[in-house]
This record gives sequence, C-alpha cells and structure tokens, in this order.
Amino acid sequence: MSALLEVRGLSVLYPGARRAAPVRALDEVSLAIRAGSVCGLVGESGSGKSTLGQAIAGLVEPAHGQLLFDGQPLPRRRRRADFRRQARAIQMVFQDPGGSLNPRLTTGEILAEPLRLHPDAAPGAHAERVSAWLQRVGLRAEHAARYPHEFSGGQRQRIGIARALILEPRFVICDEPISALDVSVQAQIVNLLADLRRELDLTLLFIAHDLAMVRHVSDRIAVMYRGRLVEEGPAAALCRAPLHPYTQRLIAAMPLPDPCRERTRRHAPAPEAIADYTTDTPVGCLFAPRCPLADARCRHERPALRESGQDRRVACHHVTLP
Ligand SMILES: Nc1ncnc2c1ncn2[C@@H]1O[C@H](COP(=O)(O)OP(=O)(O)O)[C@@H](O)[C@H]1O
Ligand code: SF4
Ligand SMILES: [Mg+2]
Repeated sequence: MSALLEVRGLSVLYPGARRAAPVRALDEVSLAIRAGSVCGLVGESGSGKSTLGQAIAGLVEPAHGQLLFDGQPLPRRRRRADFRRQARAIQMVFQDPGGSLNPRLTTGEILAEPLRLHPDAAPGAHAERVSAWLQRVGLRAEHAARYPHEFSGGQRQRIGIARALILEPRFVICDEPISALDVSVQAQIVNLLADLRRELDLTLLFIAHDLAMVRHVSDRIAVMYRGRLVEEGPAAALCRAPLHPYTQRLIAAMPLPDPCRERTRRHAPAPEAIADYTTDTPVGCLFAPRCPLADARCRHERPALRESGQDRRVACHHVTLP
C-alpha cells in the first residue's frame, strides 16, 4: 500500500552551545507512513522525536535527506507561496497546549488565524467554521470569546486540536499531546483524537515517550534512540516480541495490567540518566554503552536498519530477524 508520507535518510543538526560540536538530533532516519494509519513514535526524552515531527511540519530545516508527501518531494523552504497548499495538509498538535496558544488572542481569533492565512482553504464565514469546530472538539460556541487562560489544560488541548484540524489537513503530527495534562483527562483527549482520526480519515504521527500510551492507538510503532530509528514494525508484534535490546527495555519498563504477570516479571531496570548528546560523529551502535549484548563490533560498526520478511525493521548486529 502506498505511503502518504515518506521520510528518506533525514538528518537534522542543531548548532552546539559555544564551541561544542553540532547536536545530531536526527541521524539518517527513514520511515514510511501509510495513508489512513497511525504511526506511534517513541523514545526517551532527547531522542529526536519532536525534531522529526518539526522537520515533517517544515518547522526545522534538515541538513540531509528528503521528505515525500503523496509521492511528491516537499520543498525545503516552507514559507514560499507555492508551499502554502502542501503546508495546509500537514498540521501539528503540540505538547504544551498553554504555551502554544497566543495568550492575547481569544479562542475565536486563534482558530480563525489559520483560515486567514490560507484563504483558499476556507471560503465562507470564518465565525461559523470556528463555532462548528469548537463543538466538534467538545467545547461550546460561546467559548470563542474567551482567552486561553480561562480554560483548563484539557480544554486548551481541545483548542490546540481544533486549530490543527480547522484547515482540514491530511496528516497530523501529535507531539506528546497528553503528557502535560492531568491523568484524569488524558484518556478523553486520546479518545477525541481517535474519533476525529476516524471521522476525517486522517493519517497520524503520534509521538509519546512511553509505549503504554501509543500501543493501543497505533497501527505501527517506530522506536528512536539518540536520533536514530532503531526499530519499526506492526504495533502488536513489536510489543509482543520486541527485537531491539532498547525496545525490550522499554517494554520491560511498561506497567502491566495483569497483577500476576506484574508479580512474576523480572525486576524492571532502574531509570537511567538522560545520555549526553553533544558528541559529534559517533561510531558504532549508540546503544552499546547500555546494551548487555554489546561487543567490539557494536562499538565500531554502525548497525544498519535491516528488514525482515514479516514487515519488521531493526538496527542491531545481534538480532536474528523473524
Ligand atoms: N532548538 C534546538 N537547539 C539545539 N538543540 C536542540 C534544539 N531542539 C532540540 N535540540 C536537541 O536535539 C536533541 C533532540 O531533541 P528533541 O527532538 O526535542 O527530542 P525529544 O522530542 O525526543 O525529546 C536533544 O539533544 C535536544 O537537546
Ligand atoms: S548493535 Fe550491539 S550494542 Fe547495539 S543494540 Fe545490538 S547488540 Fe546492543
Ligand atoms: Mg519532544
């Protein structure tokens, strides 16, 4: 089946602080996301998940690589007028619903702004579109007159979702859309996104730092470690039988719903400090310092992402592909 979005060998470098080497936030990442599917993207903090989302949305400039949308290369410079139409098709829901909404604008103004910027996308009355979207995300039409600070965190995220969807995009990047919210409202926001995805036939990249969050909403899951894609495959198979030692560690750290399994499982590894990402061009496998299987080859040769007959990909020298 054809991919709506294809990422080919994408690398992003950020300038290092003072004299430090640049930070290699994304290192030759390749990923294809089928139209109408949900791809979960997981990895610890600092692994490059937001950078990948922002590069797809045109908010950061890649150093190398290519992005294809519907088979067409996305232009590098996203602000050019000819990019407008494609830009509309890709939208982003941010992690911090408070920080990403302009506090000086009313909700109605926030939602009408994308319609103003893309007039061809939005013929007709903006006010009507705004009230329809407020209701669609579970708010009320009269909320258009209120400012972001008058809402709860969950309500603000509903506004963030309406703002992303009002232009009727085809591809939406949800960057940890619930991690800043109270546990009590997290499920409501996930359900809202799942409902809207079905109704609007959206394709989603769903970013989370924790596998437990994405496993039930994703068709496929991609796992990143320090800027590299280390494993990718169907969500159920990947969670049932993770191949990469890092994915295995993520699964082992997941809370288990079954108390019997919880009692008998081996002790979970202690949380580790976030690694230092300021190295310049690292050789070998980046997971080697934490991997129980690491040997001399791992430390010197970068493992290629290999593909199995069962539609799974993994970057590890010592995994036998299923
Ligand atoms: N604007 C920036 N300038 C410099 N370094 C950055 C910037 N944004 C992110 N980074 C660095 O890039 C790496 C990846 O960050 P990020 O994509 O935010 O990871 P994640 O979303 O997985 O937590 C981290 O080492 C982070 O410190
Ligand atoms: S390549 Fe080596 S160090 Fe890297 S994950 Fe595989 S076994 Fe571990
Ligand atoms: Mg992030």
